[in-house]
Order: sequence, then C-alpha cells, then structure tokens
Amino acid sequence: MLTHTRRTFLKQAAIGAAALAYPPSKVLGANDRVRVGMIGVGDRGNDLLDQVVKVPNVDLVAMADIYSRRRDQAKSKVPNIQTVDDYRRLLDMKELDGVIVASPLHIHTRHFLDTLAAGKDLYAEKTMTWSIPEADKCLAAAKSSDRVVQIGLQHESSGALVDTKQLIKDGAVGKVTHVESWMSRNTPHGKGQWVRPVPSDCTPQNVDWGAFLNGRPDRPFDGFKLINWRLFWEFSGGNCAENMVHQIAWIMSALDLPLPSGAYMSGGVFSEKDGREVPDTIAVTLDYPKDIVVTWQSMFSNRHYELGDRIFGSDGTIEHHLEQPIQYWPEKTNRSTGEALQGKTPNQNHMQNWVDCIRTRRTPKAPVDLGYASAIAVHMANLSYKKKQRVTLEEAKAYVPEY
Ligand SMILES: NC(=O)c1ccc[n+]([C@@H]2O[C@H](COP(=O)([O-])OP(=O)(O)OC[C@H]3O[C@@H](n4cnc5c(N)ncnc54)[C@H](O)[C@@H]3O)[C@@H](O)[C@H]2O)c1
Repeated sequence: MLTHTRRTFLKQAAIGAAALAYPPSKVLGANDRVRVGMIGVGDRGNDLLDQVVKVPNVDLVAMADIYSRRRDQAKSKVPNIQTVDDYRRLLDMKELDGVIVASPLHIHTRHFLDTLAAGKDLYAEKTMTWSIPEADKCLAAAKSSDRVVQIGLQHESSGALVDTKQLIKDGAVGKVTHVESWMSRNTPHGKGQWVRPVPSDCTPQNVDWGAFLNGRPDRPFDGFKLINWRLFWEFSGGNCAENMVHQIAWIMSALDLPLPSGAYMSGGVFSEKDGREVPDTIAVTLDYPKDIVVTWQSMFSNRHYELGDRIFGSDGTIEHHLEQPIQYWPEKTNRSTGEALQGKTPNQNHMQNWVDCIRTRRTPKAPVDLGYASAIAVHMANLSYKKKQRVTLEEAKAYVPEY
C-alpha cells in the first residue's frame, strides 16, 4: 500500500508530466485581441460565429469544416477568415488562443482532446461527449491542463440561475425533494422534428465523409445521415443529449447536486415515424443521493407547455421558463407571511464569459465538471432506455458502449 506522502508525490508527478505536454499559456493584456478559431460551423456553429464576432477585441481568424458549403458560408460572413477542411491544420495555427467546437456529438471527444493538446482554450458545445468513457477522458485531460474550458451550457450564465441559488441559500425554498422539468415541441403534420433537407451540393466531392464517420463502420456516402446525424444513436444521444442536458445541468447547479445515483427512462418513437432511432417521447427519472428525485419529460407532438423547470421545497416553489426571470411562491404551510417574488438578475453573455476567462484565467460559468456531470446524467438515462431497466451510476460507468 502506498503511503500518503508517496501517493501525493506520484499524483503530483503525474499531473506535472501531463501538464508539461501543453505549451505555456500566453498572458493576454486587457487590450490584447483574443484570436479564435472554430471547428464544425453548421447550424449551431453559425449561431456561435455570430456571437463571437460581436465580442469586443476578438478576431475570428479561422474555421475548419469537412463540408465546402460551410466553409463558403463562413467566408461570406467573415471575409478574412482562413478556412480549412482538416481541423488539425487549424490547431497547428500558433496564433490562435481559443477554439470553439460545434461538431456533431460523436466527434466532440476528438476535437476536445486535440484542442487542449494543441494548447488552446476551449469552448465545447454540449453534450460534452457521446459516451461515459469519453467523458472520463475529457475530464482527466481538462484537469491536467491549465486551459480554460467552457461548455456550451449557456443557461449557466442566466440571471435565473443566480436568483434561484440565492433563494435556496436564503432558506426561502426549504428542503427540496423533487424537481420536475419538461421540454416539448411540435411540427406541422408530415414534417419531422429535427429533420433537415439535404442540400444539392452535399456530395462526396464536397464532404470529407471519412472524417465525419470518425471511426464508425465505413460505408458509402450518406448525405441524409451527415445532415441528420441527430436521429441515429451512433452519432447522437437523442433529445437527452440535445435538450435534457441543458435543464439537468441547470438543476444540478442550482441545487449543487452530485452525480445521479440511478436513472430510469421510458418512451419511444411514437410521433416521428420516419426511420429515426432516437425516441421522440421521453420520461426520465433521475435519483440523486441527497434525497432528491428529478424528472424530465419531453415530446415532439405538443408544445403547449414548451419548456420549464419547477423546484419544489418545503418552504417554497421556484418556476423557471427558458430565458425568463424565475417566479417564486412561498409555501404558506411553513411561510405564512412570505411573499411571491420574481427574479431580477439579468442574463450574462456566455461567449463573453469564455473570452473574459481567456484573459483572466478564471473558471468559466459552465466548467468541465458540470459538462461531465450533465453528460453522465444523459448517458445514464439513455442506457436505461436501451436496457429497458433502471441503471445505477456504477452500472453506467462499467458499460462499454458500442456502435
Ligand atoms: N448550446 C445550444 O443551445 C446548442 C444548440 C444546438 C446545437 N448544439 C450542439 O452543437 C453541436 C452541433 O450541432 P448542429 O446542429 O450545429 O450540427 P450541424 O450538423 O448543423 O453542424 C455540424 C457541423 O460540423 C461539421 N463536421 C462534421 N464532421 C466534422 C469533422 N470531423 N471536422 C470538422 N467539422 C465537421 C459539419 O459539416 C457541420 O457543418 C451539437 O453537439 C449540438 O448538440 C448546441
């Protein structure tokens, strides 16, 4: 058995060796321009591009995408941008301080690890990874590096989270045993949620199909899967990875929750019968060690209640609807003189927060630990759905996913 001192030494030596693999951080002055690159500039990437070019003192220098259409789109928006098809050429650019990754889920880990190894600060879209073993690798890499990692969980920069934390800290909510959350959409008859048309220039000549497959079994070019990767498990984590992750991360932050101890998910492909694999109708139950059960319910065939979270405590209830101030109501049973309140704290800009942290070297609003914890919740739920049984954290961690 190792003594404490020797164990500590070995741990530090391991961290030191890993840290040496990264070039030292540049110290940027308040007026120095931050130089940014992007990997994967599709739908979300274009939103993030629009956001980052608005942040003062930032230059968007380069972007990498395997599809020529995306490179041309980026050039039309940012005329001086350098465009490359292979992200490794972007990571070789010494002048870049930070990289934004908005590639499909099954490629996140590669882009995450290689960006850190190239010594760049990272803005990584959610869900952090496609699987739990990948999440373990990304967490370890981020922990052994001094790079700034912001996960694209932008609700962590919301005023609603600040107000919710404050009410909980003040004791206005009391003991919380249950949180319910939901997210619902609808589309016109005959049109599937998430389904995008395949552009006529989406051909093997204009796309690096092998780079998209990223180790998945080789097969002839399939433009539908490239554009609609969300519908298929080998590339996607379904709606838990697309949307539950935002709400679960927000709830876990608000209540300072540890990893879930168990997950159960039911549902199926009930409304979008278009050949997709991932379910459109979902009910997730997550058990947490602090005597809290969190539910998340979702569907694609009725949007009446849209999206929200309700935190139920012995002394009060908090209701949160996307991008709106929270509402608070006291529980008259325990707070007879309490008054209803509405949140006041404004939202902050999540992208600006990342850029600020590149300068200050502080920890951003959505750090890697939260990216990790929310990814674990997503993968536990999906594993339960596939196994059709409740899954514990230990079982989920021992599971080796296949595609
Ligand atoms: N934070 C949010 O609110 C939010 C919203 C939407 C999507 N997202 C996330 O953003 C990510 C991208 O989603 P999307 O809808 O933009 O997908 P998309 O398919 O529209 O865009 C992905 C882009 O990556 C490119 N690409 C594919 N393989 C690549 C590779 N090997 N190297 C470089 N580029 C590659 C594609 O050509 C495409 O342009 C997903 O993880 C998704 O969950 C986040």
